[in-house]
Amino acid sequence: MNHELKIVQTADGSNTIFNSQVGENYHSHHGALQESRHVFVESGLKHFLLTNKNDNVSIMEVGFGTGLNFLLSADYCTAENIQLDYTGIEAYPLTTEMIGQTGYNEYVTPALWDTFIHNYPEALQKQVNLNTTSQLQIAHCKLLDFQSDKQYDVIYFDAFAVVYQPEMWDEAAIAHTLKFLKPGGVFVTYAITGNLKRTIKSLGLRVEKAPGAPGKREMLRASRTWI
Ligand SMILES: C[S@@+](CC[C@H](N)C(=O)[O-])C[C@H]1O[C@@H](n2cnc3c(N)ncnc32)[C@H](O)[C@@H]1O
Repeated sequence: MNHELKIVQTADGSNTIFNSQVGENYHSHHGALQESRHVFVESGLKHFLLTNKNDNVSIMEVGFGTGLNFLLSADYCTAENIQLDYTGIEAYPLTTEMIGQTGYNEYVTPALWDTFIHNYPEALQKQVNLNTTSQLQIAHCKLLDFQSDKQYDVIYFDAFAVVYQPEMWDEAAIAHTLKFLKPGGVFVTYAITGNLKRTIKSLGLRVEKAPGAPGKREMLRASRTWI
């Protein structure tokens, strides 16, 4: 995938990146910030923590991109004193310079932003401690090449839409992703289609329609309920 990237503004005033090669934004044009907060932080992370009163949580994200989902999650966990172990998977990492141009520093504490931007290149090589509560590692590989012994409490699935990258949503990709979900863990994504629901159900998970981010009626949340 050739990176032909441009910063563009979305309807809530926050920026996203338009990839002209793919023909798609990194976030909803209705609002990058509100999508990230609603789909991933509220419906994924906070939903998990509500039912699992943990002082630690592990998150895996498919499609790390700008790191907005990580930043908002780490900001919340830092404020709540929750230990966060975060792994992003990203086949085509953005440059630090491009991430620096997103304006996402406005949405998190200056200390978190500074340590994120400073440590981003290293996080592409190994796990780094960003502050006393947040650890980040970004696996520079394609989803299907990602391997780990770890399983995660929450999975954020933030691939480009199925019309642009159908191979990210087929059974092989979803089954591979769900191998890394702990029993009791929660998978969230911004989209919901009949195919996706059927695939996830056939893998034994409980599928739930949750209210979507502004501009989308519904999103999908799935839980791995068996042990
Ligand atoms: C919708 S964007 C993700 C937005 C990101 N979560 C953010 O907040 O900026 C999809 C991301 O998936 C990445 N990607 C594309 N193909 C991939 C693959 N096969 N494996 C892993 N990541 C991939 C893209 O480079 C892009 O960063």
